[in-house]
Amino acid sequence: MSITILGIESSCDDTSAAVIRDGYILSNTISDQEVHKAYGGVVPELASRAHQQNIIPVVERSLKMAGLNQQEIDAVAFTRGPGLLGSLLVGTSFAKGFALARQIPLIEVNHLQAHVLAHFILEKGLARNTPGFPFLCLLVSGGHTELIVVKDYLVMENIGRTIDDAAGEAFDKCGKVVGLSYPAGPQIDKLAREGNPKAYRFARPRLKGLDFSFSGLKTSFLYSVRDSVKETPGFVKKNLPDLAASLQYTIVEILIERLEEAAKSTGIDQIAVAGGVSANSGLREALRKKSAEKGWEIYIPELRYTTDNAAMIAMTGYFKYLKKQFTKMDAVPVARFPI
Ligand code: KG4
Ligand code: ZN
Repeated sequence: MSITILGIESSCDDTSAAVIRDGYILSNTISDQEVHKAYGGVVPELASRAHQQNIIPVVERSLKMAGLNQQEIDAVAFTRGPGLLGSLLVGTSFAKGFALARQIPLIEVNHLQAHVLAHFILEKGLARNTPGFPFLCLLVSGGHTELIVVKDYLVMENIGRTIDDAAGEAFDKCGKVVGLSYPAGPQIDKLAREGNPKAYRFARPRLKGLDFSFSGLKTSFLYSVRDSVKETPGFVKKNLPDLAASLQYTIVEILIERLEEAAKSTGIDQIAVAGGVSANSGLREALRKKSAEKGWEIYIPELRYTTDNAAMIAMTGYFKYLKKQFTKMDAVPVARFPI
């Protein structure tokens, strides 16, 4: 018998719904929120309002694209956290209403776990090389920078995390300093291709262990740009590709260094990346180089499943459905949700 899961994602600024049947994607619809661009970052109050507007049309579109009606859904999976509380409430309430109306199981999903499990989403007609257990996953997004040992689909251990900003946040905040709109990550990636990665040197963290820190780099970038602009008006405009390339080089170096330490200390050589920043071409290139040097087996998800999406929520819901890990109707969203 087939199992069909509707997934709902609303943890930040993307409203997304997806349908997965037996691990195969049937639809994945996303409505991102343009409203935050003008503010240089996500405004929580505006995000939750936009989710309210988007959620029903997005789910309707997702069911239509999957060619299914509501009666064909066996369970509804939703992001319970971590994320913005007001945003999470919208997806949680919708999922509860849907499950209650249809009398089907409700399944809570940890957003971080879902980013990791995006590696297992299957597509008809597409061969996918999936990691075996255990593997090490570097999860890098706008809100998270984590090193996770994945022992099984639903058994994960967090062995390192950022103590301040996330890697994506470092891209976005530094991008704002040089006048780029939010999110700056993809623009820096593009600009970096034309620049010299060794043109400028910014501060690196001096932390021991497997944790990350990006706030020192951010401050050093800000001061360096500010000082240069004082001396040479028009500095940023003239040197934007070099600034972008040097910033990206530093962030990637910090990530790869920790990943290497984690691989060494755990003895795991199957390495996966997940989250929005895993779309970064500098990071992908550095990973390929490292894997050749170290003999790592690397796994990089399809670009469309790296940023926030409900396909990964539905996929995680599918694994939880198989284990009958259902959620009670009194579940509440949580802003912090350890893996
Ligand atoms: O996973 P995601 O969609 O949302 C969160 O859960 O945060 O990640 C969004 C983050 C943003 O910070 C964005 O700037 C960054 O991922 N990002 C990139 C690239 N594409 C997205 N950063 C660097 N290079 C990229 N190509
Ligand atoms: Zn995310």
